[in-house]
Amino acid sequence: MAEKEKNQIENATLKKIISHAKEYGFVFPSSEIYDGLQAVYDYGQYGVELKNNLKSLWWKTMTHFYENIVGIDAAIFMHPTTWKASGHVDGFSDPMIDNKDSKKRYRVDHLIEAHIETLKDLGQKDKAQEVEDKMNALIKEDNLAGLRELIIDEKIKCQVSGTSNWTEVRQFNLMFSTKVGSVAEEAETIYLRPETAQGIFVNFLNVQKSGRMKVPFGIAQIGKAFRNEIVARQFIFRMREFEQMEMQFFVRPGTEIEWYNTWKEARKAWHLALGIPADKIKFHDHEKLAHYANAAVDIEYEFPFGFKEIEGIHSRTDFDLKNHQQYSGKKQQYFDTEINQNYIPYVVETSVGADRTFLVQLCNAYTEEVVGEGENQKERVYLKFHPALAPIKAAIFPLTKKDGLPEIAQKIYQDLKIDFNVFYEEKDAIGKRYTRQDLIGTPFCIVVDHQTLEDNTVTVRYRDTLAQERVQISELQDIIAKATSFRGILEQLK
Ligand code: GAP
Repeated sequence: MAEKEKNQIENATLKKIISHAKEYGFVFPSSEIYDGLQAVYDYGQYGVELKNNLKSLWWKTMTHFYENIVGIDAAIFMHPTTWKASGHVDGFSDPMIDNKDSKKRYRVDHLIEAHIETLKDLGQKDKAQEVEDKMNALIKEDNLAGLRELIIDEKIKCQVSGTSNWTEVRQFNLMFSTKVGSVAEEAETIYLRPETAQGIFVNFLNVQKSGRMKVPFGIAQIGKAFRNEIVARQFIFRMREFEQMEMQFFVRPGTEIEWYNTWKEARKAWHLALGIPADKIKFHDHEKLAHYANAAVDIEYEFPFGFKEIEGIHSRTDFDLKNHQQYSGKKQQYFDTEINQNYIPYVVETSVGADRTFLVQLCNAYTEEVVGEGENQKERVYLKFHPALAPIKAAIFPLTKKDGLPEIAQKIYQDLKIDFNVFYEEKDAIGKRYTRQDLIGTPFCIVVDHQTLEDNTVTVRYRDTLAQERVQISELQDIIAKATSFRGILEQLK
């Protein structure tokens, strides 16, 4: 299949997933009645359940599952010097270029990447590779003038004005700032955190001492982060307000590469255990290491728009703690009783986006299939979530509104809702009710019918196979608990 045709189909898939997410209550554009806010999204009634399930699973895996990892919840606002020490004030920027005619601003690497894709579509694979190699070399050298020259030489045009009338390339800081203090003149500029990690670093000694933690140990956190991303792309993949799930693992200097390799494999295994096919996940080693890292890798997932980063594993050396020690004047050392030495621990970080993990699950779950034979053939769309992640675990339906069936179904619902997020409905034909649950990925539909009156059995209809099975009402609790527990996932990670 031609590359262009493949891209069109893939983009069509993404479009279908975006409209499915909106139509069925997963993700809405933020403040949509005012035409939305670019790169900001709201999670709907089913989206929030899926996201909460993912966050709970991550929390369970990355804190309770390890005896030497604990969690914290640090504030979004931090003392402004934090961001001087971390390097974000001076170095957290992307190279940008503006088109003078349209006034549209582009991230330089995105602009050149789009040109590379066009060259590939035109069958000029060698030329595309040459431009890509040049771009990577210039980014590695931080050669902004060279990047501009490449854009001019390649005659890259602005999509809006169609001209090549470009400004110089400038670095643009991605942090959002605001003011604290009631009197304007005395107010101090503070930042909305661009990563949750720094809340962990500044609490390293608080946690170590209060929890009597011994190196190696980890601190985990889930929380919002904010970046003024210039180019909003691919739905919730790149947002200005998003959520990170990060863990900093503090180790003895010299052991960090061993731990880096351990965490690299552990985190890949986590994504696979959630049902992502092995050929859709791969590692991508960083070509250009950040100044603080001595090893870094991305875990990438094959989205409909190609393989893209979902998680980063970084060996951050002692960069952050050393700088916090220098800027705060407070020692950030640990006394290792096993070797009788004081040192600043090295850090291996695992950092995954909750929203990107959500998008991975949505893309992986979206299924279209043809069911039935001959004239009865029809297309079915459903979300094949792992039952432990599904927003609603089971839907309970009386077959009809008469003969005491709703009363029995209500009783089952009232009982199951204590342990699970379940749903009750008696309106419309049973087929329609099944379809509505398929569209939001509910793994089980439980139907109370006339036979229930005789023998206390109900039908369980399975989302993926469409198979139906009669079971005792008393068995329901067990069936749902087994399928929806995190146990199956965690056992694979032991
Ligand atoms: N503390 C390290 C750190 O923040 P990063 O690679 O910049 O590293 C880690 O971000 C993860 O956060 C990414 O792999 C991605 O999943 C998520 N992420 C980063 N920027 C994002 C954005 N604009 N929108 C959604 N998720 C984002």
